[in-house]
This record gives sequence, structure tokens and C-alpha cells, in this order.
Amino acid sequence: MCGIVGYVGRKNCTDILIDALSKLEYRGYDSAGIAVFEKGSISVEKAQGKLSNLCSKMENGHKPVGKVGIGHTRWATHGEPSDINSHPHGNKRVTIVHNGIIENYKQIKEFLEEQGYSFVSQTDTETLAKLLDYYYDGDPVETIAKTLAEVEGSYALGIMFRDFPDRIFAARKDSPLIIGVGKDENFIASDVPAILKYTRDYYLLEQDEIAVIRENDIQICDLHKKPIRKELQTATWDVDAAEKGGYEHFMLKEINEQPVAIRTTIAPRIADGMPSLEECGLTAEELMRFRRIFIVACGTAMHAGMVGKYIIERLARVEVTVDIASEFRYRNPILTAEDLVILISQSGETADTKAALMLARENGAKTLSVVNVKGSSIARESDYVIYTHAGPEISVASTKAYTVQLSVMYLLAFELAYANGKITEEECRQHIASLQQIPELVTETLECEKDCQMVASKLMNAESLLYIGRGLDYALSMEGSLKLKEISYIHSESYAAGELKHGTISLVTDAMPVIAVATQMDLYDKTVSNIKEVKARGANVVLICKKSAEVDPEAADYVIRIPDVEDLMTPILAAVPLQLIAYYTSVLKGCDVDKPRNLAKSVTVE
Ligand code: F6R
Repeated sequence: MCGIVGYVGRKNCTDILIDALSKLEYRGYDSAGIAVFEKGSISVEKAQGKLSNLCSKMENGHKPVGKVGIGHTRWATHGEPSDINSHPHGNKRVTIVHNGIIENYKQIKEFLEEQGYSFVSQTDTETLAKLLDYYYDGDPVETIAKTLAEVEGSYALGIMFRDFPDRIFAARKDSPLIIGVGKDENFIASDVPAILKYTRDYYLLEQDEIAVIRENDIQICDLHKKPIRKELQTATWDVDAAEKGGYEHFMLKEINEQPVAIRTTIAPRIADGMPSLEECGLTAEELMRFRRIFIVACGTAMHAGMVGKYIIERLARVEVTVDIASEFRYRNPILTAEDLVILISQSGETADTKAALMLARENGAKTLSVVNVKGSSIARESDYVIYTHAGPEISVASTKAYTVQLSVMYLLAFELAYANGKITEEECRQHIASLQQIPELVTETLECEKDCQMVASKLMNAESLLYIGRGLDYALSMEGSLKLKEISYIHSESYAAGELKHGTISLVTDAMPVIAVATQMDLYDKTVSNIKEVKARGANVVLICKKSAEVDPEAADYVIRIPDVEDLMTPILAAVPLQLIAYYTSVLKGCDVDKPRNLAKSVTVE
């Protein structure tokens, strides 16, 4: 949801700003823009569409030269994607880039219009820029504090004042912002990958903090100008992790990174062959005390929660409710101090998930977050955190973040089941041993790439698809369906295979292919019966099953096999062909795989 960057140093900053923005394009690509101090004034260049449009515009026109600047990549909220609505916004005296939403922008705009200001864009951000100008009294920090006191909503801001050409200013509330610390140069960015090439050291700007950033100096204070000292953080992510590394798309790279990501996520949580989650502060005794578990998340992360529900309930016999965060926060859920609310989020910044977390806390429930981005808001606000170690996920469509989230669900299920006495130590050790084999088996599963490519070539012209499965396969098929629709723009639905004949089967014709996931051997025959029902209505069927499964040639047109593993563990493996089918369908259709239309990663608005 919009990415912002900023640079102050000795180098020409235009290329640095563009490079940093290219690492944040996953946050939105409706437009891009930069502002650079050039010959004593603020020079602004912006263009609708992807960052490459801005680059071509500058190559063919004016490319600012200067050592201090800010930049923005936009996911449109207020005002359509257009040159005029692109950031930076402001005037010759104050220019800003903004990630977030100014909720009371209409009132601010009316007030400023009465004071003689006029507006060119439809954005909420322009009102904030002009309010800063209105309050400007020669003291930028005072001005920012005064302005923000009037503003309702969320923001991460990069600000330039014409009168202070050697520095940029930053502030944040409810949108992430880091300050990268380099040698004779400093940065601001919405996320770590933007600065990794230049420095690994950074400060996390917290709620209601203002920063003044110069080449060799960073001052941070609160809204009352009280100075704040901060601990320097060091990013552990590899510089190459934010690059494509020879792959055509980030999505394919990230699919292939899953074995390492899973291994890195589970290894520190296994001690002597048993699950060990104590590093997050949650002991087995504490886990046992919870009467109910809620898993709350959005999109792919919520789908990881669905698998989590099946395995936790099956093994630990604790009731688990899975909620979509945007529903949970408004459905007045019944929560008590005996409940554990698990928030799953790759970015750790998703607005609805964060609001669900706050609601859980207000109601006295304990909160545990499963988050990929270190130091993100959700991680910091939770009672307990388990970090997944997927490394940066750049592709908008989530892949490796999903399978590492699944790995954590398994660890939690094993720990809880053992603590509750529902499995013996020996059984727990066996489960852990199976989980430890998963990275290798994912590598083996990746060998189905060519089959998936072929299947994609058969699906690419379909208008609509069905994904079906039972039990864990149904939970997984939800993710398969989301992956396909978000990047290939083919409509698809996931359906519990047994539920089809209660209505949905009337949609099935030879124009609606069906992807059937059938890895649960206790349910295999039942799923095959459902497959035959759709085949009888003309559907082309792609079957995903285990290597050793007996397949009736009548039941499927194409078969993709995953390695043999016990039923409980199949979702992580079967996720791989589903990701690859979606990936190749998108590639074959010529879609922008890593940046699907209308979407952005890290959804920081409701
Ligand atoms: C889909 C996808 C989204 C995210 C969702 C939650 O591929 O990536 O559905 O899973 O927006 O995002 P996080 O996990 O950052 O909270």
C-alpha cells in the first residue's frame, strides 16, 4: 500500500531513489514519483503507471540532479491513478510523499480552501502537504508536530522543506517506516529491501515520532519535540534476497526458495527432536491453559490458518475458529482471557489483522503473531511472536510466506498436542521428524514444474475453474484458487468436494476445468467419486495426488504427483504444484506475474 523512500548523502540521489523504489513496487504500482533538491529548489517528476514509466519520462525529459530527495510508489486510494494524483504532493515550499490514509482530509481541505489554498489533485495527501505549508513558521519539526495534531488517519511521511535543502523529515503513525543508517548517507524507506543494497543498519520509527535526517546526523523526537534515543537494528536478510537472482520473476524464485525458507523457519524451533517454541515466550504450560484458539488473518495468511485449524484440532483437540480479519474486527467476537488469538501476517502491517489484534487485546485475550517482517507493527503489539524466516517476499502473490506459515502451524499443533497429552512423546518425535523431511520433499516436489507448465497451457483459455478437495485438501485448495485468480485473472472457486452436489455442480460443463486435490488417503475414494461426478458433466480434471495413489484412468485427464508422505503433512507439498500452475498460467497469458493488476502487498488500509 504505497512505498516511500528518501535519501540524504553525497551521491546523486535520483538513481538511488529509483532503485530503492523498485524494491518497493510490490506495495503499489499505480504511479511513481520523486522530488529532489536541485539548484536551490524542489524539482518534482512523476508519472502514472509503473516505475518504468517514470524512468522513461525522465530519460526523455528532465532527470533531476541532487543529493537529497524523496520518492513514492502508489497504490491508489483517494483519486484514480493519474499523473496529477501521483506523489510527491505539495508546493514549492513543502513537498511530501505519504503512505496511509488521511481520514479527515475533507475537513482539512475545506478549512484550507477558506484560507485561500487551491487543490489540483483528488488525493488526501495533498491536503496534508498544504496543511504543513499553512502551519509552516520556519521551524519544520514544530510545523510537523502542529500539523499532525490536526490529522486523523495513518501515515508514513517523507517531507522536504525548501528552506532546509540538506535534510529530509519523516514521521509515522500506523504505517511502517525505517531510517537506514549509512556512511555519509542516510535513508528512509517503508521496508528493509529498499535499503539493503546500501546498508543493513536501520532504526524503526515508532508511532508519533518525527525524524530529521541529514547526511551525518539523525535526530528523532516525539510530537512534543522530546528527543528519543533508539537501538540500531541490523537486517539479517541477504542483499540477493531482494533481487531476482536469474529467475524470470520473483514469484518463481520465491517458489524455489521454499525448501530453504521452511528449513530456516523450523530449525530453531526444534530442540532434541521435540518442538520448542519457548523462544517466543510461550511455554507449553501456557499454551495448555487456553480454552479456545482464534486464528485471524487475511488472504493467503488466512488460508494458512485454515490448514492450522485442521491440524491443531485433529492433533491437540482444542477448538480453533478461523476468521477473516476484516470480518472478525466488526463481528463483536466473544473473547475471554482464556482465549489465544493467533494473527498470521507476512508483512506484519495488514490493517485489518492489526485491528483484530488490538480488539483481542482490549478483550483480554492473549495474542500470538506469526509474522515474517521483523519489528513490524503486528509483531511488536503481540504478547508473543513467532517469526517466520522466509526472507523478503517481493512477488505480490504470496508463496514461500504461506508454506513457512504452514510450518509454524505444524510446530504449534505438535507442541500443543503433546502438552495436552493428546500425543505421546514418541508420536511427537515422529511428527517432528516428518516435518524435518519436508524441505527435502519440497525440493523433490518442485520437479513437477514441467507438468504444471503443461497443465497451465490447457487451462489458460478457461473462463472459470473449480478447485475441489476434502479435509486438509479443501483447506489447501482455497489457496490454490486464490493464487490462480490473483495472477492469471481467471475466475476460480474452491469448493469442498462433498458440497458440490448441493448446488455448485450445475456450473460444471466441459468449459469449466476442475483441479482436484486428493492427498488425504482416508478420504481418497470419496474425493474420487466427486471427481467422477464432475467428469460425467464434461469437466477436464487435473488431479493432484500422492506418488503411490492408484489413479483410475477415467478419473483424471492430467495427474500431478507429490512425494509420498503421511496425510497430515501433504499441504506443504501439494501447495507447490498449485503455485506453479498459477504461475505458468499467468506467464502463458502474458500477465504481469509479480505485479497483478489492482493489487499491492502489505495492505495497510481497511
Ligand atoms: C495473496 C496475498 C494476500 C496476503 C494478504 C495478507 O497472494 O499475498 O492475500 O496474504 O494480503 O497479507 P499479510 O500476510 O501481509 O498480512
